[in-house]
Amino acid sequence: MTSGFPVVRARRLRATPALRRQVAETRLHPADLVLPLFVREGDEPRPLSSMPGVVQHTLDSVRGVVAEAAAAGIGGVMLFGVPEHRDATGTGATDPDGILNQATRVIASEVGDQLVVQTDLCLDEFTDHGHCGVLDADGRVDNDATLLRYRDMALAQADAGSALLGLSGMMDGQVAAVRDALDGAGRSDVAVLAYSAKYASAYYGPFREAVESTLTGNRRSYQLDPANRREGLREAQLDVEEGADIVMVKPASSYLDVLADVAAWSPVPVWAYQVSGEYAMIEAAAANGWIDRDRAILESVLSIKRAGADTVLTYWATELATTLRQGV
Ligand code: PBG
Repeated sequence: MTSGFPVVRARRLRATPALRRQVAETRLHPADLVLPLFVREGDEPRPLSSMPGVVQHTLDSVRGVVAEAAAAGIGGVMLFGVPEHRDATGTGATDPDGILNQATRVIASEVGDQLVVQTDLCLDEFTDHGHCGVLDADGRVDNDATLLRYRDMALAQADAGSALLGLSGMMDGQVAAVRDALDGAGRSDVAVLAYSAKYASAYYGPFREAVESTLTGNRRSYQLDPANRREGLREAQLDVEEGADIVMVKPASSYLDVLADVAAWSPVPVWAYQVSGEYAMIEAAAANGWIDRDRAILESVLSIKRAGADTVLTYWATELATTLRQGV
């Protein structure tokens, strides 16, 4: 056994594209990618200024986009609804004709056999105060009252044809509550994706434009403190105990340590969400000519997978899948 240089030369395996390709430890596949989509009530698709290339779709314009996503071979789409009217309890979330449930129906019938059609299960797009739950008399987010709304929302989404419910509200007990509601209604077939380690992050900024958020305060009483690593793992463990089929870490790039911890432990698939701010930063730098856009996109998503994500939610999903299929 030789111990090192000059006999050992690590660069040997980096010498040619073919060698590098052969020894790559991590590979991205189109099916590893999920595309988040915004569907808005109204007649015209609207581009988002803080997320160049991303639009709020209409029920009509989204059809072409999901067909394109299916053709590119991505794993699924995560749907967010942007309603015209909001109220204190987020009625639109449980209305079968609410925008998200309508969009789910349309998309599930269009591509439900090719893509995993998944839905954001959270009240923030539907409440007039913009919080992820309902408020108590003192204006605080009421955890247990919110669980009752989530149970109804889960049933409405399952009815609409969602195959995977993305629980992003960060209420305690939300996974168990939704699982119980689904099973009680004979919908044990519908899977639960728990946004387990979801941090109170500045990187959600552009998303707030995307869903026309009305939030004035912040979400620090329910989302995790960016300072906490151990707590991220604990949240994932609690969600698996409650019956989560998949757990998630979010945002992705600033939380790769948490992602690696969860991946090292988890008995279920681990996903990560490359959020709106991560997207916007690379797009903005690229638009200024400060960064190579395509390489940065590939590197950012690959790094998230290398850290332990089985699947990555990314606004570049379709584009990246198309690039991967061309064998880049
Ligand atoms: C809550 C939700 C948010 C995101 C996904 N689901 C916003 C928040 O928690 O404030 C952010 C996604 C992104 O920034 O891309 N429904």
